[in-house]
Amino acid sequence: MPGLGIDIEEIARIRDLAERFGQRFLERVYSPLEIAYCYRHDNPFPHLTARFAAKEAFLKASSPVAAPPFPQVEVRNDESGAPHLFLRGEATPHYLISISHTRETAVAVIWRINES
Ligand SMILES: CC(C)(COP(=O)(O)OP(=O)(O)OC[C@H]1O[C@@H](n2cnc3c(N)ncnc32)[C@H](O)[C@@H]1OP(=O)(O)O)[C@@H](O)C(=O)NCCC(=O)NCCS
Repeated sequence: MPGLGIDIEEIARIRDLAERFGQRFLERVYSPLEIAYCYRHDNPFPHLTARFAAKEAFLKASSPVAAPPFPQVEVRNDESGAPHLFLRGEATPHYLISISHTRETAVAVIWRINES
């Protein structure tokens, strides 16, 4: 069954959580690869926020299937910069993802396409 999910998040909210709870927050939400990717940027927070939105969007797109824990719903970027969704460390060709951020917000949309 196809599915579509979208989520938009305030960057200030995620920055606040990251600054208050530090590594504990990061490891509860993100994979090590995601943390490394985000902190390669001068301002990691738009990228962290977009990934938070992606995990929420995944819940919508995959519903009612049970989702893995947040760190295992992972965004990886290819050499062109394009994002791809990985679940439990595996590529997921049946899910398409797109991400965008402004100064204040980040948005992610995920489309689950038919597997046949
Ligand atoms: C991809 C592109 C459209 C991003 O647009 P933008 O307005 O700068 O930034 P947005 O906030 O909307 O999007 C950023 C997200 O785009 C995604 N993205 C980056 N490169 C991408 C690509 N080649 N294909 C699809 N998505 C891409 C990423 O997920 C990125 O977020 P992340 O780093 O947190 O994962 C833009 O960088 C682009 O056109 N790049 C390719 C061509 C290029 O470099 N042109 C510049 C020459 S003048």
